[in-house]
Amino acid sequence: MFLGLDVGTGGTRVVLVDKTGALIASASCEHENFRSPQPGWAEQDPQDWWRAAQKAIRDTLAQTPGAQIQAVGLTGQMHGAVMLDKNGNILRPSLIWCDQRTQPQCDWLHAQFGPGNIGREKLIELTANPALPNFTLTKLLWVRDHEPEIFARIAHVLCPKDYVRFRMTDTYAIDVQEASGTLMLDVAHRRWSSEVLKVAGIPESWLPRLFESTEECAHISFEAAELTGIPAGTPVVAGAGDQGAGAIGMGILSPGSVSATIGTSGVVFAATAAPTLDPKGRLHTFCHAVPGRWHVMGVTQSAGLSLRWLRDTFAPGIDYDELTAGAASIPPASDGLLWTPYLLGERTPHLDPEARAAFVGIHAGHTRDHFVRAVMEGVAFSLRDTFTLFSELGIPVKGVCLGGGGARGILWRQIQADIYNHTVDVLKAEEGGAFGAALLAGVGCGGWANLDEACAAAIHVANQIPPQPEAVNRYEKAYQAYRAVYPALKNIHA
Ligand code: XUL
Repeated sequence: MFLGLDVGTGGTRVVLVDKTGALIASASCEHENFRSPQPGWAEQDPQDWWRAAQKAIRDTLAQTPGAQIQAVGLTGQMHGAVMLDKNGNILRPSLIWCDQRTQPQCDWLHAQFGPGNIGREKLIELTANPALPNFTLTKLLWVRDHEPEIFARIAHVLCPKDYVRFRMTDTYAIDVQEASGTLMLDVAHRRWSSEVLKVAGIPESWLPRLFESTEECAHISFEAAELTGIPAGTPVVAGAGDQGAGAIGMGILSPGSVSATIGTSGVVFAATAAPTLDPKGRLHTFCHAVPGRWHVMGVTQSAGLSLRWLRDTFAPGIDYDELTAGAASIPPASDGLLWTPYLLGERTPHLDPEARAAFVGIHAGHTRDHFVRAVMEGVAFSLRDTFTLFSELGIPVKGVCLGGGGARGILWRQIQADIYNHTVDVLKAEEGGAFGAALLAGVGCGGWANLDEACAAAIHVANQIPPQPEAVNRYEKAYQAYRAVYPALKNIHA
């Protein structure tokens, strides 16, 4: 069996998968330590991820006494900066992916490469991406600027799942997919960018060794074996960030296959044969977890989060089925009510941490059900923006597979089919990043010859949902209106 471990934001999840791809056991453990000391800041304690990982692993193994684990694969929330001293001790809480404090450091970094847009374009040339507050390097630069005494003691920098790997194996390692989201990788050549590191003042010795996602990179230590129950010496493969591993778990391996996942954030993800750059930097261009391939993705910061916020704020205590039941009887496009989901600023396509969410077009006839439906539609419009960029950049879309919470309810599935104007596939069991990490582990230890074989064994389509022509027409008009909202409100938000 293969063990996949996902160090998420809300909690850590572990799955055990066998050679047929069947899920044999799983367990989760919530994180306890989210901190937002100022608006827009987001920090977690890496030690808490390790605590949750140990518990989730032990709870999983308890369900299958005697299971033989052939390999472990790791995945997790991307971009976070874990800073360690020379002895591997944590220097401060980790600034995580959704922390928005580093725009000044992004501006500084661009300026080092040239004035105005030139610096930004140069950085895109070197790393395939512009500086965004989400990316790891900008978080290190913030610590340099605000906590120089801590910066001076940094000896190692890791991403969240790689810190858990360090505790499991005493090894500093990272995969190229995750490393792409640090802004320190030369994505086209799959190696650290010495030019960016030099300009940013980051010694390469701080960075972990790079591996392809399916490569074996470490082994479970005796100490971690005691704490988790995984036998000492079990191989650990490099794994991938949650988006890379999630895509593997949905079979998004080759050009033309695309996934649309609505979790806390929302991601439209496409595999590509070569690095495909958006010269404006609106999409992320990363190495794929498939060796020798790349991927592009657009990210909506508040996707599932939008619906959770609506519920928690206006209908606390209600479950999602009840919340969305009434929305099914509201006509497509919600009688003119629009939602732009920028609760946490926005990445794709606006790259604007100061963007703010809005309901637009409220009239006296709108009910709570309209608001619920408008939120679900607004999130799908935001993901549609990524499809629009794909067609601008000539990135093919042959099939669309839905993932996350957005794939679970009938209503959100249909809204997505209609707004993307594509037949969408729903998988029999979509288990997220942990499942993909287990498949990476299975390939890494020779359980499957390659990822094509692993996905063919493990991934099955349960349902295909075609778009409905009448709804497509209505949504086409509503999408044009949606596109006009951000430019109209931009200055007000600022
Ligand atoms: C990807 C991203 C999120 C985080 C948290 O770029 O920021 O998917 O990894 O899940």
